[in-house]
Amino acid sequence: MSREGRGEAERALEALREAQAVIRSRTPLEPRAALVLGTGLGGLHEALEVEETIPYGEIPHFPRPSVDTHSGRLVLGHLDEVPVVAMEGRVHGYEGYTLQEVVFPVRVMRLLGAGTLVVSGACGGLDRRMRPGDLVLLDDQINFMGDSPLVGPNLEELGPRFPDMSEAFDRRLSELAATAALERGIRLIPGVYAGVVGPQLETPAEYRMLRAMGADVVGMSVVPEVIAARHMAMQVLGIAAVTNVCLPDAPEPADVQVIIRTAQAAEPRMTRLVRDVLTRM
Ligand code: HPA
Repeated sequence: MSREGRGEAERALEALREAQAVIRSRTPLEPRAALVLGTGLGGLHEALEVEETIPYGEIPHFPRPSVDTHSGRLVLGHLDEVPVVAMEGRVHGYEGYTLQEVVFPVRVMRLLGAGTLVVSGACGGLDRRMRPGDLVLLDDQINFMGDSPLVGPNLEELGPRFPDMSEAFDRRLSELAATAALERGIRLIPGVYAGVVGPQLETPAEYRMLRAMGADVVGMSVVPEVIAARHMAMQVLGIAAVTNVCLPDAPEPADVQVIIRTAQAAEPRMTRLVRDVLTRM
């Protein structure tokens, strides 16, 4: 690596360590799992036994969400006795953040000790059998963002230059989620998530293309966080809530308020599954 590259990597690591130190100074809690609560999915909060809540603005270098559905607090506590750290609110590339900024909190949560990442998010369904409110168990992803959070000098302390992505989502955690869904009678459809930049929703031609590429759902988050997590050898569970079904031959205008309400309606089922997985892992 060039001297400049090394300097850049050192500064990036330093920023992560500063954020880690501030969080550490507020609570000694060592999380086993990190949770990213997506659009409309913040209700998991109710189930958390909170030890410390830190607004993103109080953590150095933490990016702040500009979208009003994402509140922007880091919560540390226990979920059914399991120590966790949860992001209430995340930032997206479409807000103007670089993907390195988007994944900064995930990296900090890893440094705090979390070996598992649970990501959730809203998504558009590309399979005609899907219905709004359905939960999708992510079994793979397609990075269609034209960028990666790993571009630039590699942070060797976090992971390798060329991380393996053959198992983006952990099979064992996914099996636990599938078993819990069966037991609880919750419909959970396995699917591939395509990550796009947004913020505009897709045209019918784009939906058709994404479907042809092998995607089952599409959304504007998840993908960078999963890449950063796998870089750091975290085990990832991904569950997305279908908020709108995108049928290119019968297109319907997508309404963001409906998308948020639908995600909220799916939230109790999502919370149930995440709790089941965390207590069984
Ligand atoms: N496309 C992209 N992102 C989304 C969608 C969609 O249709 N629905 C919810 N997030």
